[in-house]
Amino acid sequence: MSTKYELKNLATGKTTPLNAITGTIGPEALDISSLTKEQGVFTFDPGFMATASTESKITYIDGDAGMLLYRGYPVEQLAEKSSFLEVANLLINGTLPTKAELCAFQNSIMRHTMVNEQLLRFFQGFHHDAHPMAMVSAVVASMAAFYHDTTDIEDPRHREIFSHRIIAKLPTIAAAAYKHTLGQPFIYPRNDLRYCANMLNMFFAVPCEPYAIDPVAAEALDLLFILHADHEQNASTSTVRLAGSTGANPYAAISAGVSALWGPAHGGANEAVLDMLDGIGSVANIDKFLVRVKDKNDHVRLMGFGHRVYKNFDPRAKIIRGMCYRVLEKLGKTDNPLFELALKLEEIALKDDYFVSRKLYPNVDFYSGIIYSALGIPRSMFTVMFAIARTAGWVAQWQEMVSDPHMRIGRPRQLYTGPTQRDYQSIEKR
Ligand code: ACO
Repeated sequence: MSTKYELKNLATGKTTPLNAITGTIGPEALDISSLTKEQGVFTFDPGFMATASTESKITYIDGDAGMLLYRGYPVEQLAEKSSFLEVANLLINGTLPTKAELCAFQNSIMRHTMVNEQLLRFFQGFHHDAHPMAMVSAVVASMAAFYHDTTDIEDPRHREIFSHRIIAKLPTIAAAAYKHTLGQPFIYPRNDLRYCANMLNMFFAVPCEPYAIDPVAAEALDLLFILHADHEQNASTSTVRLAGSTGANPYAAISAGVSALWGPAHGGANEAVLDMLDGIGSVANIDKFLVRVKDKNDHVRLMGFGHRVYKNFDPRAKIIRGMCYRVLEKLGKTDNPLFELALKLEEIALKDDYFVSRKLYPNVDFYSGIIYSALGIPRSMFTVMFAIARTAGWVAQWQEMVSDPHMRIGRPRQLYTGPTQRDYQSIEKR
């Protein structure tokens, strides 16, 4: 730690040294924890634009360089060479697993895929048109009522079993939600299949005829999941940490994360992008649409564009765009009007001063929905797919926080701008 900064109250002349804390890479952070005690002031940073909420060893983003590292490994290398479960293991444990470790992890995950039968009955209580994210967040929260042997957050073995369970069962819960909306029977997980192949089988198989899992689809899902697996202290991950910091059971914390992810400014953007492309309709309408985006009174955003941290290309978007070509070609679906429209929209936006001057580039969700659609996954399930992938990151981040002996409840302060103290008025006098 080095002291390079101080905060001076110009009225009183009182100074407080601020320690600059250095990470392994990235900008220094000023330790302001003594500020309130010393100077009697809070810092004010709505939206956490300049606030590091935690120390973490898991994921690093350099937004200007368009760099994303999981435990130090560039996401591009992992996307090319790894698998989703290997990445999940890496995120949780910190090192690339040996063959034996990976095998044990995969076996454990694929042996925890079933959910308690009573949990499955919850779905019958939902209306057929319930949004799958609403069902998934509710059922995940309910898991705490079933799996009591994993809710002692002080016990490392409980934490480990919880981690494997939630990663294993989320696809099963997602598939149950999807089948419920279709009115089709639930398809049990098959532990002889790989993670994404099993998921496709649970989504698309029916009991009355054989279903052939397309290896191209399974591979594409696996790659999308790697790219969505973690993204440091984003809104849903921070929600998981904040909920978990109270000592709440981990299922409650993950359910909170699922709910936070649902918003269109976050994981809900993948669904919103396709709605937007549908609304634009054709290349001829792009200019008209962008006029609305640039009009501040219109409150229309170019969905799938912009990011709080990336002020250069989102590396995940680059990979997914390349993947779109490959997947559509392999699936024989190259004639995809939505993909063509998205490519043209991106091209026009990237030449437009509005987006250039604000450093707005396509993010991970601009193209992901096109791939999900090509795989036959309905729009309402896109954010659920994101949630399944991000569970790996949520689990890793929650584990990191809970196993830290210095964990404290997260409790931000505020700048109060309401009425000052006043006396209660009886109703007759108001
Ligand atoms: N379309 C049009 N204008 C935009 C967009 C967009 N998608 N994104 C940002 N801007 C503009 C803002 O209006 C603002 O302009 P101003 O300076 O003239 O007021 C400026 O760019 C800065 O935008 P902020 O909203 O302050 O940026 P912030 O970091 O708070 O928001 C966010 C980031 C939420 C991702 C935003 O870019 C957005 O809403 N994008 C569309 C939704 C989306 O794709 N979300 C997915 C993000 S990735 C993920 O979570 C998986």
